[in-house]
Order: sequence, then C-alpha cells, then structure tokens
Amino acid sequence: MQQTFKLHKFVPDDLQSVMQINRVCLPENYTDFFFMDLYQRFPETFVVAEENGEIAGYIMCRIEVGLSNYGFGGLIRKGHVVSIAVLPQYRRKGIAQAVITRALEGMQYYKAKQCFLEVRVTNEAGILLYKKLGFEVTRTLNGYYSDGEGAYVMTKRL
Ligand code: ACO
Ligand code: ZN
Repeated sequence: MQQTFKLHKFVPDDLQSVMQINRVCLPENYTDFFFMDLYQRFPETFVVAEENGEIAGYIMCRIEVGLSNYGFGGLIRKGHVVSIAVLPQYRRKGIAQAVITRALEGMQYYKAKQCFLEVRVTNEAGILLYKKLGFEVTRTLNGYYSDGEGAYVMTKRL
C-alpha cells in the first residue's frame, strides 16, 4: 500500500498537536515544559508523522545511562521511549512502526546500545507492535501506573 504520511523531527510549532494527541490517546499526560525539555535535550528521537497537513502521531524519548536490561555488564546508554501515540483515525497504517524505526536511528546517533519502554500489561496493540519490531519482555513492574496496573519493560538491542 502507498505510504500516505511523512515523518519529520518535532519542531516547537508541533507542541499543541502533540499534547492533544497525547491527551486523546493516553492517560499519562505531561506539561508543556516536559515535552519541550525532551525536545531540547534529544531532538533526534522526537519524531512526528504528518498526514493531510496534520500531526497524526508522535514518539518522544530520552537517553539514559544505566545497567543493561539483560542483566549483565556495566553501565550503558539506553534509549527510553517515554511516549508514543497515533490518533485513532490514523492507526494500522504503519505510523507507529515508522516513528519507532526513526527514533531507533536517533538513539544510535546518541550511541545508545539498547532501547526500552514500559507498556501496560493489557495493551495488546502496543505489545504486538513492539514484538513485531523485535522487542522482548525483560521485566514486569507490578503496580507501575498510578491506577495500579502493571507494566512490562520491553527491550531491544541496537
Ligand atoms: N491490534 C493488533 N496488532 C496491532 C494493533 C492492534 N490494534 N496495532 C498495532 N499492531 C501491531 C501489528 O502487528 C501491526 O502490523 P500490521 O498492521 O501489519 O498487522 C504493527 O503493530 C504496526 O502497527 P502500526 O500501524 O505501526 O501501529 P499504529 O500506528 O496503529 O499505532 C499504537 C499503534 C501506537 C499502539 C496505537 O494503537 C496507539 O496510539 N494506541 C494508544 C496509545 C498507546 O497505547 N501507546 C503506547 C503506550 S506504551 C508507550 O508509550 C511507551
Ligand atoms: Zn518509561
């Protein structure tokens, strides 16, 4: 199928659209300062998809230093997917897959060796998406979310 969306790095003009998509799609919401801080520190891993002249989805990430999620070795740089969402009317067109793939390239630019994220244990779409991209469950965090639901930590080597 013909790809109908385009990717570009987040720019400050995208802020209101991205915050709106975040509010519509996820219960975890953040201040404008939080979005802009991640953009200023890690612009290569803050990616948006545009279709019909509007922002349809985004991914924003952070680079962290920590232990390997596979449980051996010393400190490494890891890319953390903080938030990803696609507006309902634009789903199942490959947008999430495309923005993650672009963000993984940005993580490699920042010399990250692994990428990880947390996902609700009931988020079937998210879990299937990440498995398709080669992520595997490396940990379970009971009661991770403020409503008490648990999370899987899913990790991929870069
Ligand atoms: N059911 C089953 N498999 C799915 C689904 C679904 N609803 N959605 C995606 N997948 C899997 C499929 O394997 C799909 O490939 P296919 O369409 O060829 O079968 C593959 O993932 C790629 O799907 P995309 O089209 O790239 O995914 P989409 O653009 O629709 O976005 C997303 C997926 C981000 C999970 C979207 O449903 C969404 O925004 N959900 C609400 C917000 C959310 O859950 N975000 C993730 C939270 S975790 C975090 O942010 C770190
Ligand atoms: Zn997280």
